This record gives sequence, structure tokens and C-alpha cells, in this order.
Amino acid sequence: MASMLSLPAVLSARVEAAAGVDPELRPATRPQFGHYQSNVALRLAKSEGRPPREVAARLVEQIDLADLCEPLEIAGPGFINLRIRADVLAGVAEDVRGDPHSGINAAEHPKRVVIDYSSPNAAKQMHVGHLRSTIIGDCFTRVLRATGHTVIPQNHMGDWGRQFGMMVEQLIDEGLDATTLDLPGAEALYQRANAHLNESEEFAARARDRVVALQAGDAETRRIWQQIIDISLAGFNATYQRMNVLLTDDDVAGESIYNDDLPVVAADLEQRGIAVMDDGALVVFVDGFPAPAMIRNRQGGYGYDCTDLAAVRHRVGDLGADRLIYVVGTPQQFHFDLIFAVSRKAGYLPPEVSAEFVGFGQVLGADGKKFSTREGTAVTLDSLLDAAEAEAAPAIALAAIKYADLSSGLQKDYTFDVERMVATTGDTGPYLQYAHARATQILRKAEAEGYPAGPITLLTEPEEQTLALLLSRFGEVVDTVAETLQPHRLCGYLYELAGALSVFYEKCPVLKSEGAVRASRLGLCLATKRVIATGLDLLGIQAPDRM
Ligand code: ARG
Repeated sequence: MASMLSLPAVLSARVEAAAGVDPELRPATRPQFGHYQSNVALRLAKSEGRPPREVAARLVEQIDLADLCEPLEIAGPGFINLRIRADVLAGVAEDVRGDPHSGINAAEHPKRVVIDYSSPNAAKQMHVGHLRSTIIGDCFTRVLRATGHTVIPQNHMGDWGRQFGMMVEQLIDEGLDATTLDLPGAEALYQRANAHLNESEEFAARARDRVVALQAGDAETRRIWQQIIDISLAGFNATYQRMNVLLTDDDVAGESIYNDDLPVVAADLEQRGIAVMDDGALVVFVDGFPAPAMIRNRQGGYGYDCTDLAAVRHRVGDLGADRLIYVVGTPQQFHFDLIFAVSRKAGYLPPEVSAEFVGFGQVLGADGKKFSTREGTAVTLDSLLDAAEAEAAPAIALAAIKYADLSSGLQKDYTFDVERMVATTGDTGPYLQYAHARATQILRKAEAEGYPAGPITLLTEPEEQTLALLLSRFGEVVDTVAETLQPHRLCGYLYELAGALSVFYEKCPVLKSEGAVRASRLGLCLATKRVIATGLDLLGIQAPDRM
């Protein structure tokens, strides 16, 4: 990983050296304004009480950029326009070609980041919400690792709770061997147990006793519970493999691992007067929240809230996290706001550790309503993958789904429209894969004709410069995604890059040109191909050489 500052960062630093404040460089809105623009003179003019153009003129004198830019220009009311020299752009594009990561300003202060994502519930198939969490969390893991952070994924699987008491009891009633089940089989078992519970008070009582036995660590109960967890995990792993995500068994940190911590957390909070008894339950009230966090209910049971507090304590205290990220559907926003507030109050989450809830919207059907099956039940993740694979090859279908998931703001709902998602035109994953495959094809052809890509040296045409300029921004875009956790910025960038590549092909002949020009243009194709592949990889999307 390069520790060199990227070109945009260098430009910004040089302007700041003269201006004394962050110049907030922005990509120029029109080619005639150069490549970057700053309104710093306008801002300084206000505080200095001088005319903006006068301040701009002074800055242009002082800014030391002659080695990188054409002479600076002042435009309109006092904007400063920067145009990068063609030879400098060529050099940067050449660096990117050598290593697409070269523009990433590897984190100055690498962090230990714990990301809670996927987190399906045992004995239930994953649904669309888990699909989004898995795809988004996987992208965060990739981007944060690429920017120099240590990422510890935590798959907070729902593998504990009252439902396992009734499932174990039902298995025993039916004389069924849990190891013969698969995940859908476990889900069916859950439904039978639930029906049984509703119709028989006697079974309900036994199921309650079974929960007590499970929590107390009764060997036979634990053995059967473990079998249910194992078949669930095998089912989830099959889906993870299909989805090409990085999660492994090492990342599973199910709710059950906190079982022994729950009474410890409750006692700690109670002793320090943070939790109080309220109508038989142990709760924590926090200013500004309409309801308290439930630490222990009136029956003496611990639930979702207490488990998440124990998880925060573990992640900070044992795993040494200094940044916590939770990728969970927006309906759980309140839960996490409360958990973070209680954790701060209790000191489980010290001020220097950040905690972010990254919610995401729903996946909608063509009718604009929450996506569901004809029977009205939640759609399973595997059936979504099946639907996309009915339209395209697996790698393309997956790209279609992941890109649709990541390319608009995460909080927005989006419509699951398979045909649009798999199209190789428009703002889609397959379009980017296609752009990559096309560049590969050109390079392969040139190679076969005996013309390998050469160093990027000549950037005479505006379309070449535009492409090189975009390449120089890749690292900065990745840095921004790592900071803001907004993958759509990377998607938007790659879409723009693929568009610039096709304009470049149109205006600048590659195979039909000759000598150093052809070598340089092929080099530009190669750099772009690599950046697209690297960018797609950060989104968790594969870039096949052929389509
Ligand atoms: N299992 C939960 C669900 O399916 C999501 C868990 C999210 N993570 C957490 N730490 N609570 O809704």
C-alpha cells in the first residue's frame, strides 16, 4: 500500500499552505474551468473584508503549484481554477496502472473496526434484510481493509432464546434426529413447535422447562441445540459461498456466546446504580429516550437489549475495537441509539470509541410494496439469487444484485427489478463488468497483434485527459467511502469512469493508432481496466475477462 499522498491530496495541501484553511477543492463543473476549483478566496474575502478577486490574485501569487499545474486562473467572482499538466496526469495514470491502490491514502491512524453484519437467525432462512446487511457489511470490510484498517467482522447470529427450548422439545417429541435436517427442515420444525405451543398448555410448560435446561447448560439439551445451530450455519455458509462474501466461521459471534456475561452485566449495572428495578424488571433509563433498556425482565430472563450491551462490552473490552459499525435494517435504529446511550453511560463505550448504526432501506417488489412471495411471506435470499440467475450467469446475476444494493443511498428503499438490474446498459453492475471485459478484449487483441500496452506518456486529447484525471481520483474515492460508509460514491465513480472509457474509445482510436500513441492508449485502457476491477472487488463484485 502506498503511503504517498494522492494527487488530489497534494493539490489540496499546497493550496492550503498558502491559504491557511482547507481549500475544499472540488472537481471542476465544466472542462473550461480546468480540473479542480476552489472557493477559498471567496471565503477568506469575507473574513478579511477585502474584494474576493483581490484575495484570489494574492493567493495565486503564493500558491506553489508550478510543477503540477498550468498557471492558475481566476474565474467569475474569485474562484481559483486548477488545470493539471498533461505530463503530470500521465505520470499519475501510470502509477495507477502499476498499482490501482497507489492513490489510496492509507489510513494515517489505522483503527480496529468491528462490523456487525449479516446476523441471520438460526433455524430461519435468510431474508432480503439479511441480504442487504451481508452485501453492505462485506463491502465495508473490503474498503476498510484496503484503506489500512483492521476489520473484525461479527456475525451476531440469533442462536439463543426461548424458541430453542420449544424446538428441542418438539424434536424429542417427534423422535427426530436433528442432524437429518437441513435449514428449511429446521424452519419447518420451528413452525411445528410453534403451532404445538399454541395448542397445548402441557407442551408450553415443557418448552419453558427446556429453556431453563438450555440456559443451565444441561448436556442433552445443549447437544440438540448445537445440532440445530450447526445445520443452520451450514445453510448460511452455502449462501455466503454463493454470494462470494468474506465471512467465515471465525466471524460467527452468535448471541449465545454472551450467555454467561448477561448476569454479570446486569449485576454491574445494578451495583453502580445505572440500572434500576422498575415493576419487577431491571431497566436503564436514559434521558431523551421514551422507553428504558430492558436488562432483565420480570421473569428473570435476559433478552436482545442485554445481549447487545454484553456485545459492546466484549467488542471494546476484549476485541479492542475503536470503531463499532452495525449494519442492520432501519427499523432497529431506535434499539441501537438506546444501546449506544446506555453503553456510554455505563462506560462500556468510552468517548474515544465511535459507534455507528448504518441502517438500510427495504427491498420493494414491482408493485412498490415490501418484496414478498405470492403467499405474502418474506422472500428468502436464495430465491432472490435464483430469480437473478434465471436471467444471467451466476457472476453477472450476483453483480446485478450487489450493485443494485450498493449504488443508491443505503437508507433508500429500492425496487427489485431483475431485468433492469441485469441489463448491460445503464447504471448497473453488469454494465461495469462489460466495460471491464471490453477493455480486456482490446488489450488481448493488441497483444495478439504484437502490441503490448506501453507506458502512459502522451495525453494530448481531452478524452484521454478526462480519463486520466478520473483514474487519479480513485484512491480519494475509496478513502471517502471508508470515512463516510457510502458505497454509492464508489459506484457513481466507477460508472463515470466506464462512461469516460467509452467516450475515449469513440474519440481516440486505440488499435488503429500507431507507435507511442497506441502504446500509451493501450496503457490507459489497462489502467482503467485495473481500476474498474479493483473498484468492483471493493464492492464484492467479480470482474470476469469475458462476458
Ligand atoms: N438477528 C437480528 C435480526 O435478524 C439482527 C441482529 C443485528 N445485530 C445486533 N447486534 N443486534 O433482526
